[in-house]
Amino acid sequence: MPQIIDGKAISARIKEELKEKVSDMKAEGTQVTLAVIQVGNDPASSVYVGNKKKACEYIGIRSLAYELPEETGEDELLSLIEELNEREDVNGILVQLPLPVNIDEDKVIAAIRPDKDVDGFHPQSVGSLCIGQPGFVSCTPAGIIQLLKRSGIEIAGKECVVIGRSNIVGKPMALLMLRENATVTVAHSRTKNLKEVAKRADILIVAVGKPKMITREYVKEGAVVIDVGIHRDEHNKLCGDVDYEDVAEVCGWITPVPGGVGPMTIAMLMNNCVESVGPEAR
Ligand code: GUN
Repeated sequence: MPQIIDGKAISARIKEELKEKVSDMKAEGTQVTLAVIQVGNDPASSVYVGNKKKACEYIGIRSLAYELPEETGEDELLSLIEELNEREDVNGILVQLPLPVNIDEDKVIAAIRPDKDVDGFHPQSVGSLCIGQPGFVSCTPAGIIQLLKRSGIEIAGKECVVIGRSNIVGKPMALLMLRENATVTVAHSRTKNLKEVAKRADILIVAVGKPKMITREYVKEGAVVIDVGIHRDEHNKLCGDVDYEDVAEVCGWITPVPGGVGPMTIAMLMNNCVESVGPEAR
């Protein structure tokens, strides 16, 4: 049986470390503040936003909640961001996605000052990651790097295949693995012979958004398998993009769903919030 990569335990440890750091910063007179903006009341977004607020409270980060109605105009949202950009007592700004269809998401992301962009979605943050300069990194891929490192899994020199090329996960994931000196392949829905490509991987990272798509035919014996997906299966049970029971028979390491990648995203968001105060106050 494979070794389980325990995201719940690893994220709990990171949150403990951050809690201590935030408490030390408070003692030195520095308060970390995150502004969280939600437009409309998409139920999934409300759960995510609620979890982010809870994590802030646990760690000692002040969170400011902006819950705007569904019919909020783009200009109104942009002026709120402008105001938060200017406020010295606000370190991080997070706009929960997706936004209502009448609002241009790209425009909103670009309006957040890069030094407050704790989600790491701003084009400048992504560009900095691409050319190896400091900046915020998207939380889910950053969390996966922590899962690998804290589980003692070597990355340098390994064959890594990322399945999925989204701006939030696949692309930054590939860049981070490259930064860690892996040999990286990005596969996607148009990739030919996906099974053979995936089977080359020592480290297989799956973010395809299709429940249980990845079976043992995609996985090399002993490989590390990281599952970014979260879905409900036909029995209303949580499952990932990976067919866990099947792949567990052949892989060496695997992340469970739930309790793998999921809890790491919020832990890394909290880490970005702490970093958003700037190096002189940390
Ligand atoms: N919606 C789904 N995932 C995310 C995320 O990581 N950040 C934000 N802002 N919105 C999301």
